[in-house]
Order: sequence, then C-alpha cells, then structure tokens
Amino acid sequence: MLPIIQTKRLILRTIQLSDAADMYEYAKTPDVGPVAGWEPHPDLNHTLMIINMFKMSAAKTGLGVFAIVLKENKKMIGTIELFNHYQHFKAELGYALNKDYWGNGYVTEAAKGVLKWAFEDLALKRVEVNLFVDNYRSERVCQKLGMHYEGIKKKGYMRYDGKIFDEKVYHLTDDEYFNKGGEGL
Ligand SMILES: CC(C)(COP(=O)(O)OP(=O)(O)OC[C@H]1O[C@@H](n2cnc3c(N)ncnc32)[C@H](O)[C@@H]1OP(=O)(O)O)[C@@H](O)C(=O)NCCC(=O)NCCS
Repeated sequence: MLPIIQTKRLILRTIQLSDAADMYEYAKTPDVGPVAGWEPHPDLNHTLMIINMFKMSAAKTGLGVFAIVLKENKKMIGTIELFNHYQHFKAELGYALNKDYWGNGYVTEAAKGVLKWAFEDLALKRVEVNLFVDNYRSERVCQKLGMHYEGIKKKGYMRYDGKIFDEKVYHLTDDEYFNKGGEGL
C-alpha cells in the first residue's frame, strides 16, 4: 500500500515482521518511545504485536508505517509515518530512530521524502507534527524541515502512564511546500 521512497542514504518501505529484531533493539530502550508517547517494548513478542497492529491499521486507513532502512547495510533503524490521515486533506507526521543513529540527519532526510509524497502524490493540504514541549530533538527536525511553529496545546496529550504533557504544534501546508519549490525544502 505504501510506496518505496528512496533518499540519498535511506530506503523507506512498509514495515514487516522481519524488522522486529531491529525495531526491538531501540524500542526496548527508555530514550526513544516515552518521548514520542509510547511505552518501551518489554520483549520481542511485544514488538511483533505492534508491527501486526501497524499492518491491521494500514488495512483500515490505507496508509501504513514506513521502516527507515539504511541503504549501506539494509539495517532497519527507525520508523516514520503519516497518521490521523484525512484523504486529500491532512495528516500528522510521526517518527522515531534507534539512538545509535541519532545526529546524522537521517530523520530529517526521511521526512523530506515523506513530505514530498504527502504533498505531491497524496495531495494533502496540511501536515503537522505534535511534540512534547521539551522534545527539542524533534523540534529541531521540524525546524530543519522548514515547518512553522503554530503554538502550544496546553495539557494536550495524556501518555500511556497517565502523565499529561503540553504539546507544541508545527505545520507545513501545500502552499508553503510548493512555494518553496518542493525539492528545495
Ligand atoms: C527526534 C529524532 C527522531 C531525531 O532524529 P535524528 O535523525 O537524530 O535527527 P537529527 O540528526 O536531525 O538531529 C536532531 C537534533 O537531535 C539532537 N541530537 C542529535 N544527535 C544527538 C545525540 N547523539 N544525542 C542527543 N541528541 C542529539 C540535536 O539537537 C539535533 O539538532 P541539530 O541538528 O540542530 O544539532 C530522534 O532523536 C528520536 O528518535 N527521538 C526519540 C523519539 C522521538 O522523539 N520522536 C518524535 C516524537 S514527536
């Protein structure tokens, strides 16, 4: 259902059950999931269950979750997806990366590919990112993508552990994307 998106260093393709070991490697750590709103995976079976859940929700919504795969060695190092998708209207962008690979601009590169698909193929009018106020890493990704800061949703998100967070919202519209010439984002 998802296209295969190629960027300079990455392949984005539908996540598969065979990605479970690579996903579990980072999903079990406390540094990745909780700042994105999801619980660290307690074991490999949990990761398999989550990937199955992604597949079921993809069947319903028509979109799915991309695995971020390094071209050089085919290792799966993270995920990126559009969710809360309204056809020809809008979606939210989400992403997470194995901590061993942070700081190389991989998610920014992957997100540029996904934004191109979102605006040029899915004809979305708006893509947004909602992030916890103190998640400066994710905020930097938004800024590097040329997304625009919109404001704070006070107490906008209740996490799996009951903790409530203020969220910052960043957006990009189709007009903003195309005015920038698309490829140049
Ligand atoms: C947010 C995230 C996806 C960014 O991915 P990435 O590929 O490392 O992104 P970048 O390389 O562009 O780095 C973004 C920022 O992270 C910070 N950063 C980079 N490397 C880092 C490292 N090794 N350790 C700590 N922070 C680091 C820097 O502030 C960087 O901004 P800069 O380029 O201005 O220096 C990644 O940090 C992650 O998976 N975080 C946990 C999950 C998450 O927060 N998801 C988003 C929920 S809204």
